[in-house]
Amino acid sequence: QSGTESNWRKRHTESIIEEMNKEGYEVLYRNGFMNQDRQIQDMRTFIAYKVDMIVFTPIVEDGWDAVLLEAKDAGIPVIVVDRHIRTAEENLYLTHIGPSFKAEGNRAGLYITNHFQNSSQTSIKILEMRGLAKTSSANFRSEGFTEVISRDSRIAIVASLEGDYIRSKAKDVFRNYIEENGWIDIDVLYSHNDEMTLGILEVMKESGIVAGQDIIIVTIDGQAEMIENLRAGKVNCVVECNPNAGWYVRNTIKRYLKGNPIPNEIYMPETVFSDKGNLESIPPREY
Ligand code: AHR
Repeated sequence: QSGTESNWRKRHTESIIEEMNKEGYEVLYRNGFMNQDRQIQDMRTFIAYKVDMIVFTPIVEDGWDAVLLEAKDAGIPVIVVDRHIRTAEENLYLTHIGPSFKAEGNRAGLYITNHFQNSSQTSIKILEMRGLAKTSSANFRSEGFTEVISRDSRIAIVASLEGDYIRSKAKDVFRNYIEENGWIDIDVLYSHNDEMTLGILEVMKESGIVAGQDIIIVTIDGQAEMIENLRAGKVNCVVECNPNAGWYVRNTIKRYLKGNPIPNEIYMPETVFSDKGNLESIPPREY
């Protein structure tokens, strides 16, 4: 696993371990603490242990070729979960199982274009709080969002800041930004994950900004605490990122062991919750 930076991430880990246990597989777990070198070291440890399979959540997109080649040479299949990776050589891993981050960005953008559709405002300014640099989740969330908002020429991203998916980092970065630039010009906050949004909500409260009204807030993940904020009107749209990869991983491993063909990409279903929908019907969250 890449780390424990969010409740989302903790649920992602639990979901995989739970489903592996149901199958009676022995799970060896390592936490990379958001450090790629450490994750590579963890993979080498598993290769040395001669495990039967590695399920791996990459912290960033690039830099995995050498260790994946070592796993391949050792005959250990690797399943990549959550974020995507980019390798120079093909067939270094069995499959990728995760969310469509681009679709998440599209959904976030769609909420904004719909929200301002009938507004007489001539310019709509967005502050984007990006997730960790060099990750497919942050890159695709930006790409998908920009693709949709660019259909309305009034809407523009005026600042794109990096919060690394971490609450305290986003809190500091947002506070510094509004101290230097003020917030009155910001119409929308687009935040790549709930943890960062929670940090920003604290700064908004301290600064007298009425979250969800003075600034429209769109956030990604769907943690229980954020659904409460949506119900309370403090955020406007929560784009779900599904952490429950476990069942898909389990099913893929079973199919693989039976000799069935495995697709290169397995996408997990996701939805969106917003103040335009029925907030009472949102299923309980386990993260
Ligand atoms: O890669 C998925 C993202 O990583 C989740 O949105 C976020 O909460 C986590 O840190």
